[in-house]
Amino acid sequence: MRILAIGDVVGGNGVSALTGTLWKLRREHKADLCVVNGENASVVGINPQEAEAIFSAGADVITLGNHALQKYTLHRYLDDTPRILRPANLSPLTPGMGWTETDTPQGRVAVINLIGRCGMDFGPDNPFYEAERILKKLTARIILIDFHAEATSEKAALAWHLDGRISALWGTHTHVQTSDIRILPKGTGFITDLGMTGAVDSILGVRPEQSIGRFLGEPKRVPYTQAEGRCKIEGALFDIDPKTGLCTACQALRVTL
Ligand SMILES: [Fe+2]
Ligand SMILES: [Fe+2]
Repeated sequence: MRILAIGDVVGGNGVSALTGTLWKLRREHKADLCVVNGENASVVGINPQEAEAIFSAGADVITLGNHALQKYTLHRYLDDTPRILRPANLSPLTPGMGWTETDTPQGRVAVINLIGRCGMDFGPDNPFYEAERILKKLTARIILIDFHAEATSEKAALAWHLDGRISALWGTHTHVQTSDIRILPKGTGFITDLGMTGAVDSILGVRPEQSIGRFLGEPKRVPYTQAEGRCKIEGALFDIDPKTGLCTACQALRVTL
């Protein structure tokens, strides 16, 4: 079974990039299931219309992150839509779910969304223990985790901790694709960060002058806005043996439109 995972979609142009291309990519790479991180579809957060657009573009499951709850209109949608996930290790008062199981012709697949604790100001629960708790509840043999985290060490540590017990773990949040995709010793596919989907000439998808202004100490007068121009789609492909639930091949993906 082949999984296509797509990194954080930034802004309307990121969503549009997927709209024209994701189904084509799925067909070209014969992907059976597609998971897209959508937490930046509104640049900061995502609204239900953007989520619907990402589903229509070809996503089976949308994962989120530290901006999951930014748009109040999403809260009800999270409760009503099991295929969109917010991080599982947030407060139990958080709307929506942090993991889901879906049946496919190749077997049942679980997708889990977790958030890291290094450099994140949400005070989430320990993602290592949360992952253990969720694994005990699952019936799926194919288990995928989007670990939305800042620190490369935290992402690698969770992947190695779960090696051989899950099919693949990919990192999101830092928006820069890492060149370390591999299969860990016990059979889990892993990449520290998928990268992003959005404007090529940008800083993490945002207009460069806005990001530079922040570092120069300019007060933030307007919300971050997406950069314009040509877009890229970044992510990764993981081949999973449905019998063992382990990864047999993986590769990073970048398409510039
Ligand atoms: Fe994030
Ligand atoms: Fe992000």
